[in-house]
Formats: sequence, C-alpha cells, structure tokens
Amino acid sequence: MLDLRMRPTRCIRSMFLLVLILFVLLNMHVLMNFEAKKSTSMDHSFLNRLRNQQNIEHAHVQNDRMQIVSDINESKVEFLMYPNQYNRTFNSGSVQESNLTQIKMEIDRINQEQYIHNLNKFGLKLKSDSIVIVVQVHDRTKLLSILLESLKAVRKIEETLVIFSHDYYSDDINKLIQSISFCPVLQIFFPVNAQLHPKEFPGEHPNDCPRNVKKEQAIKMKCNNWEHPDKYGHYREAKYCQTKHHWFWKLYRVFDGLEVTRNYTGQILLLEEDYYVAPDIITTLQMMQSLKRKECKDCRMLTAGNYDKTQSYVANSGKVELAHWISSRHNMGMIFARDLWTEIKKCAKEFCNFDDYNWDWTLQHLSMKCIPGQIKVLKMKATRIFHMGDCGVHHKGKNCNPDIKRKQVESIINSNRQHLFPNVISIQGTSRFKLRDPKPNGGWGDIRDRELCMSFMKTNV
Ligand SMILES: *[C@@H]1O[C@H](CO)[C@@H](O)[C@H](O)[C@H]1NC(C)=O
Repeated sequence: MLDLRMRPTRCIRSMFLLVLILFVLLNMHVLMNFEAKKSTSMDHSFLNRLRNQQNIEHAHVQNDRMQIVSDINESKVEFLMYPNQYNRTFNSGSVQESNLTQIKMEIDRINQEQYIHNLNKFGLKLKSDSIVIVVQVHDRTKLLSILLESLKAVRKIEETLVIFSHDYYSDDINKLIQSISFCPVLQIFFPVNAQLHPKEFPGEHPNDCPRNVKKEQAIKMKCNNWEHPDKYGHYREAKYCQTKHHWFWKLYRVFDGLEVTRNYTGQILLLEEDYYVAPDIITTLQMMQSLKRKECKDCRMLTAGNYDKTQSYVANSGKVELAHWISSRHNMGMIFARDLWTEIKKCAKEFCNFDDYNWDWTLQHLSMKCIPGQIKVLKMKATRIFHMGDCGVHHKGKNCNPDIKRKQVESIINSNRQHLFPNVISIQGTSRFKLRDPKPNGGWGDIRDRELCMSFMKTNV
C-alpha cells in the first residue's frame, strides 16, 4: 500500500495517516465490543451471519468496519464511515434476466450484503439531523434516469445516503443505479415480488378469480380466492397490489432491518421513480426541520412537494403551511422519522386490513382512526418536487412524454433559480382542508394480500 520511493513530506503524511488508521482501528475495536454487549442476542446473531458469510462470494467488509459513535452533541453521529476505508464498489453477478432462479439468488445476495456504494469517495456520517432518501423503484427506467439527473444537482446530496428500493430486477435499472457517482447508494430488493412469482401469488395465479366475476359465479368456478372479493365485489388485480406491499416492506427494511439505519434517528425522505427534485430540497427540508422543532412540536411529518396548479417561488419560496395530512395533497416527498414509523407499525393490522390498495389512502385512514393525535404536517408552499409520471401506473397507454415534461420543469427551476435556497423559512397559514376518514377504494379484499402485508413485521428483520 505504501510507496517507499516517496518524498519526505509525503512520507510524513503517510506516517500520520498510518497513525490515524491505527487509532481508528483501536477505537473501533472498543466500540464494536461495546456494541456487542449492548445488543440483544438476535442482533448479535444477525451481525455474525453478516460477518461470516461463507456462502457469499464477496465477503462483506463493511459490517466489520462500522462504527456507532456516541457523542454528547445535540446531533450526535450515529453512523460514521470515513472515505477511502475500502475500495470496492458495484459488482454484479452475471444474471440472466430470464432466469428467475438467478434473479432470486442475486436479490438475496444484495439484500444480505447491504453494500453501500461510493463510500470510498464520500464516506458516510449519519446524524439525527441527517436526511436519508428512500426511492421506491418499479420499472420505469427513463423516468428514473430523469430523477437521478435531478438528484445529482441537489446541494449536499453527497452527505446523504440514497436507498433505492426495487420490486423489479433489470440490468438496465441496475446499470443506471451503478452509474451514480454523486452520493452513497444502497440498493434493496422487495423479495416477495410479482416478477419472481409470475404464475402464483403475489403475481397472478392461473386459477385466481377474474376481477369482474360475481361471487356466485366464482364459487361455481372454484377459483382460488372466491371467498375474498373486495367491498365492491371485485377480485384482486395483482399488478395494482404490489405498490402497497412494497411501500410497507421498505419501511420495515429501512427502520428495522438495515444495519446502517436500524439505529438511525434522523429523517427519511420518501421519493418515487417518477419524481423530479429541486436543487435546494435537502437544505430547505433541514431548515423546515428546525422550524418544526421550534414551532410545531406535534407535527410528525414534512412534505417537500405539492400538486398546486400555480407555484410562486417569488412569494412562497420560504413559506410553509400547517395541515392535517391528506393523502391526495401531501403524499409527495414525505419526510418523517422513527417516531411516526413506530405509530404506523402499531397500526399494522389496520394498515393491512383496510380495503384499499393505495398505501396513501390507507395512511390517511390510519391518521383518522388509529394514530393518536393524527398526523400533522408542514407543507412547503412552493413545491420542491415535480411529478413527472403524471400518466401513472394506471394510464400506461396514454400519450406521456417524459422529455417534454422535463423541459417544462427545468424551465420552472431555471427561471426561479434566484428564489431557491431561501434564507428564512416560516409558517404562513393553516390549511382549510379538514381530515376525514377516506372511503376505501377497494382492491384489497384478498386474504393473501392481508396476510403477506402482516408478515413483514415478523420476517423482515
Ligand atoms: C437458471 O439458473 C440456475 C442457477 O444458476 C441454473 O441452475 C439453471 O440451470 C438456470 N436455468 C436456465 C433455464 O438457464
């Protein structure tokens, strides 16, 4: 590692580095032992499993070098890794996209390794005022590439960890993720996905009842799920059920599963593959966060985006509105921390049994019926997120050109550049919209969906 032909100054620098590394290693030893004593036996065996993975080709170095550092400062460091501690970055096995067995093995490997890429470049320091970004990804590669471009331009992006949560494995998507060089990146895969189960639940089994048959007919057909139509008498449509499962699973995975975030007390920002983010999203959210601490202690969520037709950055760049969380208004760019997740988890049964295949309407139902004190939110009045995939999952056929949409959004951002990065953030007004318990949209009557949804609690961690 050391080049012996170095000049004296470099030599001294190397000596210094060496001493530093020894110091860090020594500290780490102490810390790791300390942590091992504190953790429960289950945690311990999980760590051991990760450390001794004979069955995995490329042993995972990261866990051995992880530090949990306590500090008496207000925003203590919870996870710390210096740049250049090791050098490995993306590696992918050779996977044939048509071979589901191989995809399953690869997904399991990646989920087990929990490898964070680009740490050699940036290191990672998570604190209680950090923002970890979690992006839910399905299969819209083009839109994802636009999101990545926008993320690249975000100030302080290199300080965050961006977690991509996938429910579909594809080389194109992986290549795109692997091309990211501007921040630490971690990929996770929702394992119980439809791609891996094309002819069985949670995909569509050949003997599943068609959406529109009546129950009496379904009984005669003896189709699998005849007993469980939704409240409108329809049977499940596999392609619409996955998103809610994935949404719920990834939160378990991030808050309770992943080594890097399981003790994290900072914020997470939820994005989707068809979003476009403004360059000041992180800085503005951090300012909102401290506003929340001062002026709205019972707000449990912030939202960076909104769907308002007219946006005025001149007037509203630093303005924030207080509201009750309403799914159709506040579901874009939600950020929250473990305290709200704990409340959502306590309502898992309600979440999994509410007859609505939309996670956001379900969450609104929880806010109304299950979460004590409801979910109050601070909303940015000038949106920092744009929804590019307006056509959505439901309108695949409709004419929808992401490039045109992107040009529009870029021009909005460019013409308002001098109003981004506000100096002051303040609460201006309260939303006049009342929270109500939403009428369930259906699509979630199948007992198998309800059971799968409930299973994440037990199996994920
Ligand atoms: C799929 O991959 C598995 C594991 O590598 C292998 O055993 C199997 O033969 C492959 N199947 C096909 C059809 O290529």
